[in-house]
Amino acid sequence: MSAQPSPEETAPYGTGAAKPASPAKRVRTHHLREMKERGERFAMLTAYDQYTAQTFDEAGIEVLLVGDSASNNVLGNETSLPVTVDELLPLTRAVARSAHRALVVGDLPFGSYQGSPEQAYDTAVRFMKEGGAHCVKLEGGTEMAPQIERLTRGGVPVMAHIGFTPQSEHTLGGYRVQGRGESAQRILDDAKAVQAAGAFAVVMEMVPGDVAGEVTRELAIPTIGIGAGNQCDGQVLVWQDAFGLRTGRMARFVKQYADVHAVLLEGAREYAADVRAGTFPGPEHTF
Ligand code: KIV
Repeated sequence: MSAQPSPEETAPYGTGAAKPASPAKRVRTHHLREMKERGERFAMLTAYDQYTAQTFDEAGIEVLLVGDSASNNVLGNETSLPVTVDELLPLTRAVARSAHRALVVGDLPFGSYQGSPEQAYDTAVRFMKEGGAHCVKLEGGTEMAPQIERLTRGGVPVMAHIGFTPQSEHTLGGYRVQGRGESAQRILDDAKAVQAAGAFAVVMEMVPGDVAGEVTRELAIPTIGIGAGNQCDGQVLVWQDAFGLRTGRMARFVKQYADVHAVLLEGAREYAADVRAGTFPGPEHTF
């Protein structure tokens, strides 16, 4: 008789995307609009992999963005500019497989949609077919209306992104608050243009709080702030900033809710010390 392997011998290193005991109702774009109408706020975070997606989904975060910020938070680049569609698609797929309730947003990277509405459509379709995203985000206001119209017409829900748009940092002259003084009208015009083109929501980044508040009141679609004060319908943060995996200087708009860097550092040091002292693995870890 052949011996059956014990569960310990067969347990894999990871378990793949966990299946929930009772599937939660998926957050849809219309739910966000209904929340706005009821005066309820919602939370969005970035996620780039299986376990963060599962954890944030379990925490009830309504929207997960597989941001092009993966470029400078996962892939080691200095900015979001170098990341490609082929690099973002596997991350999007991992998040889409792992989040059972959250709306998953694929972020179109620099150069993959600005060329023409057809280019935008072809890229967005890849994010939905290959990445499993439920919708896409793109940066730009009035000038992106043709792209937003094309995607919406073709069955791709679009989240717009106005104010400071990191993909245009060289055009905007660096990381700067947008919409101060006279340029406030530009923010309002951009917001109205993306809504008219069919966007289901709009991110506003680094915009004065009172301007973001006015946009939020003027629009029927939800607004999502990052550095745009507390009058938006939702808020978004990059998770490595919010939970302290990244260290160093943070933007003023970041609130740090945890210190993951310190926890990992301590754990890694203890592990190394155990290995060097010969106390790991112990008898309980040995077959
Ligand atoms: O890529 C990203 O993380 C973003 C957020 C900052 C909104 O676009």
